[in-house]
Amino acid sequence: MAAARGLRWPETHRRCEGGSRPPRPTRRSILTVKTLRPSTDLTAHTPAPHRDEEWWRHAVIYQVYPRSFADADGDGLGDLPGITGRLDHLAALGVDAVWLSPFYRSPQADGGYDVADYRDIDPIFGTLADADALLARAHELGLRVIVDLVPNHTSDQHAWFQAALAAGPGSRERARYIFREGQGETGEEPPNNWESVFGGAAWTRVRDRADAVGSSWADDAQWYLHLFDSSQPDLNWDNPEVRAEFEDVLRFWLDRGVDGFRVDVAHGLVKAPGLPDWSGHVTMVEGAEDADDTSDEPPVSRTSEKHHARPPMYDQDGVHAVYRAWRRVLDPYPGERILVAEAWVDPVERLARYVRPDEMHQAFNFGYLVTRWDAPALRDVITASLRANDDVGAPTTWVLSNHDVVRHASRLGLERTGKGPNGIGPADPQPDAALGLRRARAATLLMLALPGSAYVYQGEELGLPEHTALPDAVRQDPAFFRTSGDEKGRDGCRVPLPWEADAPGFGFSPTGTTWLPQPAAWAALAVDAQTGRAGSTLELYRTALRLRRELGLGVGALALAEEHRDSDTVVGLINTGSPEEARAAVLVVANLGATPLVLPEGTEVLLASEELLHDDGRVTLPADTTVWLVRR
Ligand code: NOJ
Repeated sequence: MAAARGLRWPETHRRCEGGSRPPRPTRRSILTVKTLRPSTDLTAHTPAPHRDEEWWRHAVIYQVYPRSFADADGDGLGDLPGITGRLDHLAALGVDAVWLSPFYRSPQADGGYDVADYRDIDPIFGTLADADALLARAHELGLRVIVDLVPNHTSDQHAWFQAALAAGPGSRERARYIFREGQGETGEEPPNNWESVFGGAAWTRVRDRADAVGSSWADDAQWYLHLFDSSQPDLNWDNPEVRAEFEDVLRFWLDRGVDGFRVDVAHGLVKAPGLPDWSGHVTMVEGAEDADDTSDEPPVSRTSEKHHARPPMYDQDGVHAVYRAWRRVLDPYPGERILVAEAWVDPVERLARYVRPDEMHQAFNFGYLVTRWDAPALRDVITASLRANDDVGAPTTWVLSNHDVVRHASRLGLERTGKGPNGIGPADPQPDAALGLRRARAATLLMLALPGSAYVYQGEELGLPEHTALPDAVRQDPAFFRTSGDEKGRDGCRVPLPWEADAPGFGFSPTGTTWLPQPAAWAALAVDAQTGRAGSTLELYRTALRLRRELGLGVGALALAEEHRDSDTVVGLINTGSPEEARAAVLVVANLGATPLVLPEGTEVLLASEELLHDDGRVTLPADTTVWLVRR
């Protein structure tokens, strides 16, 4: 074993404490940390002044992907009653809120992100009464509920799009979408060169649709825009009718009692006038890359490299008026209803524009998600994110996994960490599962120590890896089909959850049926197999979430630990915790290097992502491990 290096209690923090007594209420810590001048010095962050009821500033929000959480009716697809029946798990886990991916009426061409009716539940998931029951039970358990809103596009089965096809060019119905004439002598070329995020052109000609045969639009030469699948036509947000409709949809769900909305592709609604050509490439979550950026080396983090192409279909200034109007819809409702932006926008200063005081409440921090397992890059993204959000008085969010990316327990086991590929197949290089899980636990403990709001994707609390051996025959992601299999797509992170080790389908469904196959090895990862097992990933999450809440880490001030601020391998942070919490500020240390670190004397371990080592009477922090310490 490599010789352990010493880790001292950082100077910054030592100055905060008196003698060797247990730390006192953190007022003084905060004052000391404040002297680091948060807005100009990247080493510190102090939370914006806020009201107690602003739960969203520090909430841990759990993402439920309804198809894959729990199935009550036995058809192998998850549903709303299934979710309601398992909400106890989330309450016991210790999260504050649940975000539900779409459950609306939908042909499911893109897992429900193709909405045919925004005011109804798809029969595969249940009924509006089931949604009401879910809300009621969640609220009874003290969990808030955020629903997904998909305003950039509808399904092609939406009544508006069907009417647009039938009504023909120049009609009021077509003006709700983005229909254009083609280029070339007979209009045979698409109106511009934009690509779909899922691969292929972003335009489909009306007469080329399968349903054109024998229809009134069989000879229709117009094209329509779809930034995603051809079954997801983009709406025209220059049309006041579209704006009014979505404000009404917001009210529909607010009246039913939802606590907020996660807004899909929030940066995409407004397109640049004239729809100019743009030859760059846009990747889900990661965002835009210049066409002239030929390096296949992904940036270590988005704060460290140029990543500033602003394509004409994303992050246009006009989009902010939409969210200001939505905020005016939400604010009169009691109980702090929120808007969360899903926006692949960088640099982080531009993302922060979505969370200015009169716009949204939060934006997903994908810059954090795509950052490599690299200490300087993590410090950079943490400090840059906090600074940009502090500047607009918004909380920073943190996220490592969701339904669009390879699960972080696998991503972090790949040779090159960072955003990773869009899916992994059996013939692709496989992640190192043990290394991935070890790093995932360390990454999670680092994330949950950060002030602001954190997102947890269903199953990550079990340490679930990506399913990397799914046969092509079961794949459903449109990205797989639109890239002819070059991208395996996102099915591998959407496999139904294992609840009971010994039940068929691991208890996902009463019949044992699951819409995607589960790896046999998941028996050991089932909720019942991990509950009460010391050291299990589930118990690690439960303890971390309890401590985070008790200590008020979500509202703490944060500083970089002075002696690690330039380290290549160590991230050291001090979170002062809540000013009301009488216990210690927490020193958080993540060791990304190979050499174990000796823990500072006079400290007590609150929680560690792996067992600590004992080296010659000293306690050391092994590689790829995070620890939370307080002074004894
Ligand atoms: C982002 C969603 O997270 C993803 O799942 C979906 O495919 C696209 N938006 C299109 O709606």
